[in-house]
Amino acid sequence: SNGKINIAIDGPAGAGKSTIARMVASALSYIYVDTGAMYRAVTWYMIQHGIEPDEEQEVLQTAQNLVIQLIPGVDGQKVLVNEENVTTLIRSLAVNAKVSRYAQIEGLRTQLVSLQRQMALRKGVVMDGRDIGTTVLPDAEVKIFMTATVQERARRRYMELKDSVSITLEQLEHDIAARDHLDEQREISPLRQADDAIWMDTTEMNTLEVTEAIVSLAQRSGWREESK
Ligand code: CDP
Ligand code: CDP
Repeated sequence: SNGKINIAIDGPAGAGKSTIARMVASALSYIYVDTGAMYRAVTWYMIQHGIEPDEEQEVLQTAQNLVIQLIPGVDGQKVLVNEENVTTLIRSLAVNAKVSRYAQIEGLRTQLVSLQRQMALRKGVVMDGRDIGTTVLPDAEVKIFMTATVQERARRRYMELKDSVSITLEQLEHDIAARDHLDEQREISPLRQADDAIWMDTTEMNTLEVTEAIVSLAQRSGWREESK
């Protein structure tokens, strides 16, 4: 092996998954894979083409012909759909409101999961999402279930959005709770902690503290792997 491991980070919206995954990847010189961006990219495309989440066959046929690319870069990850740069477009409130409904479609999940597994074959990947530890990479050497109170998660999102989008803290808290509910209750690969995942409540931790904790787990796990 190349001495590298895979790290899976799951948890609800606003827990800090993508921020921390990016920081951990940078500290270890690993590749960051944002699986939420893939569900968002599909959602953005379906909205553009007026295809509703209950039109499952239409969604699946359309998704099969999409080329979704995650391109790591110095100023963050770029997301392309059929070569169009949708990096900022997939963060819109319209996508937020609908993504969890498309993400319930079994065939769509199968398609994206297979792409995600391919990206992790050579190890050295930090992948975040909802079902990474349970379904996508059940053999990941380090699994984290990251969470924080819904109030803190909404507050974090509010701090990011308040200067650019007209939305209240209450509205954000409501949106996040609704999305969490759909993600936890869906039939296929719901959001839940893998049996062997480490639970991290980050409500009172800053990003550096969380990053250091995970990097240290990764380093210890790497040593174990090498001494086998
Ligand atoms: O960044 P945030 O936590 O708001 O969400 P995200 O990670 O970008 O994911 C957006 C949505 O995609 C989630 O609410 C899920 O419905 C879906 N998703 C999923 O079902 N499985 C994943 N592995 C990643 C995201
Ligand atoms: O990916 P996810 O939805 O889980 O969360 P995120 O987009 O990484 O984090 C949401 C916001 O919370 C970002 O602005 C982070 O900088 C911030 N954050 C924080 O203040 N403290 C943490 N321990 C983790 C994230």
